[in-house]
Amino acid sequence: MQEQQLKPKVISSTTLSTPQLYAIEPVASSISTFPTTRYYGSKRKLLPWVFDSVRLLEFDTVLDAFGGTGSVSQLFRAMRKRVFYHDAFHFNTHVARTLLTEDATINVERLNAILDAVRPIKGTIAQNFENIFFLPSEDEWIDGFATLIGEMTISDADQSLLLYLLYQSCLKKRPFNLFHRPNLAIRTASGVNRSFGNATTWERSFREHMLQGLAELLTYRRDRLPPATVLPAGDVSLLEPGYDLVYLDPPYVAADERRNRDNYWRRYHFLEGLSKYPEWSNLIEPGSNIGMMPEPTHFTDWSRKKHFKEKLFDLIDRNKNSTVVLSYVKAAYPDDASIREFFESRFANVTVHSTEHSHALSGSKRRELLYIGVPK
Ligand SMILES: C[S@@+](CC[C@H](N)C(=O)[O-])C[C@H]1O[C@@H](n2cnc3c(N)ncnc32)[C@H](O)[C@@H]1O
Repeated sequence: MQEQQLKPKVISSTTLSTPQLYAIEPVASSISTFPTTRYYGSKRKLLPWVFDSVRLLEFDTVLDAFGGTGSVSQLFRAMRKRVFYHDAFHFNTHVARTLLTEDATINVERLNAILDAVRPIKGTIAQNFENIFFLPSEDEWIDGFATLIGEMTISDADQSLLLYLLYQSCLKKRPFNLFHRPNLAIRTASGVNRSFGNATTWERSFREHMLQGLAELLTYRRDRLPPATVLPAGDVSLLEPGYDLVYLDPPYVAADERRNRDNYWRRYHFLEGLSKYPEWSNLIEPGSNIGMMPEPTHFTDWSRKKHFKEKLFDLIDRNKNSTVVLSYVKAAYPDDASIREFFESRFANVTVHSTEHSHALSGSKRRELLYIGVPK
């Protein structure tokens, strides 16, 4: 749905009071200023459609469970809702803190000074990830950067922002933007077909990527929005109910279990390690060819057929007194019919929205679904 189509609809709606009209009107246009990311599963590109599907629902407090990059939290903030963000990854709390609150103070001048002070060293990454994800000189640079910010006396918000910029740069410099395979050779081997990737982006320096990331962030922040609450990282199943609206965007589980191996932990363990840099070297499993840390069971349970359906339906059931909005895809596990049936058994009012979406890297199309259950 295009922005132009959204605005007249909102303005002509008779169900909204005047203050809400004032709050909602700029949302569609502000979506385009949300910072970009290469994180797998981000809803950023689908936000105009999500907005169109939820804009008439009544709610004040909202939980963005499985929050990932915080893109949906950004949408709810732009709608002036009271947002609570949550994800299982600790590194994502740095991302959320940076994008959803505005207490960091680092500007371009300060970032340049920090980057000038980085001294490459042979630390955890150089010692454990040689020729796995980045070039040896890049490993040493990241080690130097992580060590420097660990030694600096800065606020948590500024530290989160610096880590956020590091994470985004690491993603951009990786083939497929992932850490699931030791495939640095895709960047370095001669004669490799690179038509699927972006060789120029891989070779750009961390400094360039970070300065670009900061510029994007500062543009977005011109929009002064209410800060969100970033909940501590952990398992979604442990969260308390009680929000007006609960938005769920769980990992997609394939019907063919062989396709479920590369889950979020496998894709992003490296960024999670960076988020706990001082203790990381003690956590890496000696036998892992990609330097993984042991996988927490809640990542496994939410990415394999064995427990996924039970966990998902339990979570929805626990929140059945809230409006529940679930993002999922067609032709996955559990199937569309089972999810609809479950929603209908728990909510007075159920609607399902759908749209086609192309996957950024593969170009393959899939049908995205949004189930909305409203209690009595
Ligand atoms: C489809 S992504 C969410 C994307 C997000 N809505 C966005 O726009 O960026 C799924 C997220 O679920 C998180 N996740 C996986 N298992 C989890 C668990 N047991 N508890 C909480 N979050 C979990 C992953 O870390 C990942 O960020």
